[in-house]
Amino acid sequence: MRESIYGNHIDAMEDVMNIILGSIDELRANMAEEFGSDPVEHCRARIKSEESMREKCRRQNLPETTESALELIHDAIGIRVVCAFISDVYSVREHLTSMAKVEVVEEKDYIKHAKPNGYRSLHMILKYDNSYFVEIQLRTISMDTWAALEHHIHYKKTASENDKLIIAELKRCADELASTDMSMQTIRDMIRKEL
Ligand code: GTP
Ligand code: MG
Repeated sequence: MRESIYGNHIDAMEDVMNIILGSIDELRANMAEEFGSDPVEHCRARIKSEESMREKCRRQNLPETTESALELIHDAIGIRVVCAFISDVYSVREHLTSMAKVEVVEEKDYIKHAKPNGYRSLHMILKYDNSYFVEIQLRTISMDTWAALEHHIHYKKTASENDKLIIAELKRCADELASTDMSMQTIRDMIRKEL
């Protein structure tokens, strides 16, 4: 068996992933206690598989080395946090960016500035304790639903006559979902005020 592209780092990478997940769990418990609702709908974390990491190195013309996987590519550790409401996305963001030992290396707010195809999410690259990079994706349930559907189309092998229409319709759905997210946020804020 060939050696892992992650060398002997896997255990330490899992530790970092679990520290960040544990911290998100703390926030969830605290907010549930304070506001009576959990800000997180669900959370998924993964170490990028050996094969996907090697494939990404090749795609980016990088040698298939531990240095490429851990220093040049920043999503070996990935955490996706899906929230019910937009304000919860920003609560999780605040929490993570103010965590001890966390440095924010990069932030892309595709919620405030959606991608041209309609994709929305808040992306951050964090570095934990000067060791590993962690890619964070924060989004609402609507944004997650849309991204899942778009992913299928993006990766389909064959082009079709309808592609232009499909892209335009997907964009329209993304914008409608974003508008619904804003309405849901307003409703939630109204309910909270009444409590
Ligand atoms: P990578 O080389 O993939 O790291 O891209 P990047 O450095 O340009 O980062 P970006 O923040 O644009 O995207 C990183 C990740 O976000 C992707 O691997 C996807 O998981 C997700 N993502 C970004 N854009 C889209 C999109 O248009 N559709 C979907 N479904 N996912 C997206
Ligand atoms: Mg990236």
